Amino acid sequence: MDPHDVRPARSGGALLSIVVPTFNESDNVAELLRLLDAALAGLAWEVIFVDDDSTDGTADKIRGLALLDGRVRCIQRIGRRGLASACIEGMLASSAPFLAVMDADLQHDERILPAMLAELRNGDLDIVVGSRYVSGGAADWPESRASMSRLATRLSRMVVPADLADPMSGFFMIRRAVFMGIVRKLSAIGFKILLDLFASSPRRLSFREIPYRFRERRIGDSKLDSNVMWDYALLLLDKLVGRYVPVRFLSFSIIGGLGVLIHLLALAAALQVAGLAFNWAQGIATLLAMTVNFLLNNQLTYRDRRLKGWRMLRGLLGFYAACGLGAVANVGVASAIFERHYQWWMAGVAGVLISAVWNYAATSNFVWRRK
Ligand code: GDD
Ligand code: MN
Repeated sequence: MDPHDVRPARSGGALLSIVVPTFNESDNVAELLRLLDAALAGLAWEVIFVDDDSTDGTADKIRGLALLDGRVRCIQRIGRRGLASACIEGMLASSAPFLAVMDADLQHDERILPAMLAELRNGDLDIVVGSRYVSGGAADWPESRASMSRLATRLSRMVVPADLADPMSGFFMIRRAVFMGIVRKLSAIGFKILLDLFASSPRRLSFREIPYRFRERRIGDSKLDSNVMWDYALLLLDKLVGRYVPVRFLSFSIIGGLGVLIHLLALAAALQVAGLAFNWAQGIATLLAMTVNFLLNNQLTYRDRRLKGWRMLRGLLGFYAACGLGAVANVGVASAIFERHYQWWMAGVAGVLISAVWNYAATSNFVWRRK
């Protein structure tokens, strides 16, 4: 018999932890707690909020609730952002045998949690997914979001089984033992923690989907923005080729390639439109390309360590310095290879590779240092 069956609801640890990532949800958390309390009556549960230092006082709100209700916990992360990594840290902070993840904004229907738990306890399933796309499920959202979700789902087939109807869902329940078997392989990039779990699991997960209606968000704003699409692309890339190349390096290199294009366009404009001398034009184009690269990397590659305000200015200067050294290394290595009578393009490619690796290593250690 499961020892939890005989344990009164509040005496010991929880049977079920509900992990809720929050970012600026201060007006939703109290209502969510009330709904969970109603939906899970008689069960030993707890809720672990993982807040990324919201600016609207969400963490203080949660701690206020925790003073009144011992089932509420708050993890406040500082200088970090990321839905998937927040969920992972919340799950790691739990000791319960069953772990659920759901959003704070009341879009996920908490009333299916008992059915999800029953499925996991009675069967031999690894994971139960709250699904919008099996019969009985639905989503109240505009066609533009729906078509984006469909596209993302189609792309996900490269890394998740085809019979999972809603791999984009952010609402699921998993056995802790199964989670522990996957956690070290997770990419932890971006928004799609469920997809990450399925794609990272060393063995095929047995699952069931339970339909629910994805409600409209009524309070607060969605955090979905254009970065989420980039993060999603990186997650898929990481699952496809991350074994061979770190995905941050890929992101850095793609942006670097774009920098070359920007450089050439700016050079052409400075020479032909503005009629500048070559060395001036080249200097301006270099500065512009480096600045754009810095901004894009700050926005995309290092989104989770993004620099703001004065730190950003300091970071930009550091970035110039690192890339300057990278350029010196590039020319040095390429010339040395060329002098040993290799083809000119081989020498050129070697120089570019050296500076790409150097720039990446230097900037990830000095400009976007991990906190
Ligand atoms: N800790 C933390 N850090 N929480 C975050 C972050 C973050 O960087 N970004 C968003 N959240 C929290 C929000 O506060 C909310 O509780 C939840 O994550 C979902 O964010 P929304 O902005 O409401 O996302 P959505 O409604 O567009 O999409 C959600 O539902 C979809 C359908 O299930 C997400 O869960 C998607 O992954 C999911 O596909
Ligand atoms: Mn939402």
